[in-house]
Amino acid sequence: MSPALQAAGVSVSFGAVRALQDVDLEVGEGKLVGLIGPNGAGKTTFVDAITGFVQASGSVRLEGREISALPPHRRAHLGLARTWQTIELFDDLTVRENLAVAGGRPSLPESFAEIVFGRQPRAERLAEEVLGLLDLEDIAEELPSNLSQGRRKLVGIARALASKPSLLLLDEPAAGLDTHESLDLGRRLRRLVDGGLPTLLIDHDMGLVLGICDEIYVLDFGKLIARGSPEEVRSNPDVLAAYLGTSAAEVEPDAPGTGTAWAAVAEGTAEQ
Ligand SMILES: Nc1ncnc2c1ncn2[C@@H]1O[C@H](COP(=O)(O)OP(=O)(O)OP(=O)(O)O)[C@@H](O)[C@H]1O
Ligand SMILES: [Mg+2]
Repeated sequence: MSPALQAAGVSVSFGAVRALQDVDLEVGEGKLVGLIGPNGAGKTTFVDAITGFVQASGSVRLEGREISALPPHRRAHLGLARTWQTIELFDDLTVRENLAVAGGRPSLPESFAEIVFGRQPRAERLAEEVLGLLDLEDIAEELPSNLSQGRRKLVGIARALASKPSLLLLDEPAAGLDTHESLDLGRRLRRLVDGGLPTLLIDHDMGLVLGICDEIYVLDFGKLIARGSPEEVRSNPDVLAAYLGTSAAEVEPDAPGTGTAWAAVAEGTAEQ
C-alpha cells in the first residue's frame, strides 16, 4: 500500500530565503509522524507546500497520487486537512455549527435524500460524528469564546476532521496549552491515529511529540537533519546542537506533556 503522504525533494524559496531545501518525508498508513525544529526552521512552510498554499518544487504524493500540480482546494478535496498555527473559529457560531460549516457540500444523491426523505443533512451528521470522535459532545452548543484555549484547539482539530480527511496536518496544536491539556490532546491524537487517520504533528512541546509519535523528522534552516524514532531523535547530537548549541549530555527532555521545548530550556524561558 502507498504511504498516506510521500514528499520527495520538496523545496521552497521566499526571495533569497531558502525556507525548505530538498525535503523528503513520509507518513505511513496508521502512523503519527512528528516534525520538529527551532523557530523559522521551515515547519509551517512544509505544511503550506504540501497543501498547496505556497509554490514549491518537488513531488507530493497522497496515497500514491501526485498532487503537487493541484490547487489547494483540489488537494483538500482529495483528503488533505490541516490546522493553522493560530486558530480561526467563527465566534458567533456554536461549536456544532463551526463543525457543520466545515463539512463541505453534500453530493447530489445526499441532497436528494435530505430534501425528499428529510434525512439529517450530511454536514450535521459529520459534525455529530466528529464531536463523538473527540469526545466534545458536552460543549457542542457552546460559543468558542466561552471555552478554554485547550478546548478551542480541540475544536480547531475537530473542524479539520469534519471534512473526513485521509491525512491530517497539525501545526502546533499544543501551543498555549497547559500540561494537563497537552496530555489530554496527546491521548486524543493517538486515539485518532490508531483509529486509522495518519497524521503529521508539528509542535514545540517536546514531551508531547516524543511521547506519542511513531517517527520524528527534524528540520533546521530548511533542511532535514534527522529522522528516527523518538529515542533516536532525543539522543541525536545534531538535533540537540540545533536546539541548544550544546551537547546531548547537558539536557534530558522532560516527560510527555510537560510543555517544555528544548529551545525554551536553552533560552531559560517557558515561551514557545
Ligand atoms: N511568506 C513568507 N515570505 C517570506 N519569508 C517567509 C514567509 N513565510 C516564511 N518565511 C520564512 O521562511 C522560514 C521558515 O518559516 P516557517 O514559518 O516555515 O518556520 P517554522 O518552522 O514554522 O517556525 P515556527 O516554529 O516559528 O512556527 C523563515 O525564515 C521565515 O522567516
Ligand atoms: Mg510555524
